[in-house]
Amino acid sequence: MNLTRRPRRLRQDGLRDLVSETTLEASDLIAPVFVDATTEERVPIESMPGHERVPVDEAAARVEEITETGVESVIVFGIPESKDDRGTRAWADDGVVQRALRRITDENDVFCITDVCLCEYTDHGHCGVLAEEARERWENGAAEADGGVAEVDGGAAGLHEQHETGLTVDNDTTLDLLGKVATSHADAGADMVAPSSATDGMVGAIRAALDDADHMDIPIMSYAAKYESSFYGPFRDAADGSPAFGDRRHYQMDPANADEALREVDLDVDQGADVLMVKPALPYLDVVRRVDERTDQPVAAYNVSGEYAMLHAAAEKGWLDLDSAADESLLSIKRAGADLILTYFAEDVAKRL
Ligand code: PBG
Repeated sequence: MNLTRRPRRLRQDGLRDLVSETTLEASDLIAPVFVDATTEERVPIESMPGHERVPVDEAAARVEEITETGVESVIVFGIPESKDDRGTRAWADDGVVQRALRRITDENDVFCITDVCLCEYTDHGHCGVLAEEARERWENGAAEADGGVAEVDGGAAGLHEQHETGLTVDNDTTLDLLGKVATSHADAGADMVAPSSATDGMVGAIRAALDDADHMDIPIMSYAAKYESSFYGPFRDAADGSPAFGDRRHYQMDPANADEALREVDLDVDQGADVLMVKPALPYLDVVRRVDERTDQPVAAYNVSGEYAMLHAAAEKGWLDLDSAADESLLSIKRAGADLILTYFAEDVAKRL
């Protein structure tokens, strides 16, 4: 054998770490927190072992648990006490996220991000104001007509389900509301806002609203490439944000597309996005890579609820080792080009670092 090139040489103890190309740090991670105005006690989220919906009173304590692991930032999601057709509780000064933010920032210097969307706040569960045609369907009992499909599969349409889609959300009237939500979050102490409603023009509308309210230093992390994905199922249980009828195919992206993600990213950059996010992460690592190559701005990836739940489910059956599968997942997301990762594994992984 005359092998002059032997890649194995670099894999020896000691050298392996010296030549490793990617490292994971606790400061790259953002941990999701669910604050629930309808409960007085912590409620475990069954499909996301280790995660809970916490009452407003417990929000600061929950964040404390997270920062103790070394994770320095959180993203806050709210479950409101009531819902209506426009999601008005999303921008209420005494809304669940706003109250939680005041508590959290009083007690902790964690970097606090908020998800800006309406689906948890609207009675129909869509991410904005219903378009006329959809409103008619909704008022005529579309939820029952759809046979509760949203419940069965966690709200994602699934690639093979044929839902009647149509135009569900009215884009431009929704923009105004998103501006109000983002501003109220910033007023309550959010350090960064993260619009996830997949509304065209959302970044520009939010930037203008924030600037108008003297929040020009509050950055926007846009869910720029957000796919209509089956992997959001557990989240929609956790945050109670499933569409009551229809699906999100007219506003979230088609999993078949990657060039389109770049167009979305370009639009968001033009409108002033500071950080660009791809979501989900693992099934879309090609998109993470292309977005990273496209822009010199920071790229985030959302390792979503379904990605978390599936590793837990397999580990529970003894089919893989949870800790190493989690570490490998996050490392892969970074290797693909993400600078920051939103993940339900944040605390677990940070503890091991
Ligand atoms: C709100 C929102 C969703 C997620 C984050 N923000 C749900 C959705 O778009 O349907 C999903 C996150 C996850 O699955 O972990 N629009």
